[in-house]
Amino acid sequence: MKCFQHVADIGDLKAALDEALEVKKNRFAYQHLGKNKTLLMVFFNSSLRTRLSTQKAAMNLGMNVIVLDVNQGAWKLETERGVVMDGDKSEHLLEAIPVMGCYCDLIGVRSFARFNDKQEDYEERIFEQFKQYSGRPVFAMETATVHPLQAFADLITIEEHKTCPRPKVVMTWAPHCKPLPQAVPNSFSEWMCATGYDFVIACPEGMELDERFTHGATITHNQDEALQGADFVYAKNWSAYRDPNYGKIINRDMSWTVSAQKMALTRNAHFMHCLPVRRNLVVTDDVIESPRSLVIPEAANREISAEVVIKRMLESM
Ligand code: CP
Repeated sequence: MKCFQHVADIGDLKAALDEALEVKKNRFAYQHLGKNKTLLMVFFNSSLRTRLSTQKAAMNLGMNVIVLDVNQGAWKLETERGVVMDGDKSEHLLEAIPVMGCYCDLIGVRSFARFNDKQEDYEERIFEQFKQYSGRPVFAMETATVHPLQAFADLITIEEHKTCPRPKVVMTWAPHCKPLPQAVPNSFSEWMCATGYDFVIACPEGMELDERFTHGATITHNQDEALQGADFVYAKNWSAYRDPNYGKIINRDMSWTVSAQKMALTRNAHFMHCLPVRRNLVVTDDVIESPRSLVIPEAANREISAEVVIKRMLESM
């Protein structure tokens, strides 16, 4: 595997899940693969889970790890060609990326949507440049449009907790005070659509995601109806995708907050969220603290999803 960005990159999902469960049983069994190999993790944005779980996964595989926080201590990077660099940016990404590639064997990149320009975000201009110019296998640690390590961890978590072969999984939009990217819901939808589960997206009108990620999902604007019979409820806020409101908050409807009353509509569903989460906006305290909440197992499985992806990249080197 030279790139990990979309569900198709992982190949057969059943095989990937079997591998994840095997890695989880013995996460130190493949230390030989990473000996004398270095992972560089490049962060353009903040992180808790991705930073810790990916580093742990690489260490499980015997790798050395370098973490670069681009906005803390590195030269400020220009990302566009043709710019007269007479401002505060001292280095261009087109030199910085191949230089980074000189010091490592694999690269993970976190680079969120900037919301300046929808086309720029959805063309994945930063991540694509890493793929093109680093000379190394590259994996997404949440890019402008996708967060596949999270979606893979969520899938592992559902597989571990489902009680029927084809559970009903509902991803519901929920309110938030800041405009958030669509990366997590895009990837969750893309991966759920690849499973064959009964997958439903509930969101207010105007909050529909890019159809490239939702093909195969049932989409509804009625949250209560969607929640009926759900086995898993995946809450997430995202800002508007559709023009002319791209990247904006166009809805603050608190009736979409996932509460105990909402969960009572389900089939005793598990609650899921990728974290970090704003309590009592996205989900109430009692729901996230309930025994049906899977937010900590999801976070724990981030180590496993990262280990499978890094392992496969090491195996194909
Ligand atoms: N879920 C997730 O990616 O968390 P972080 O932003 O803390 O890495």
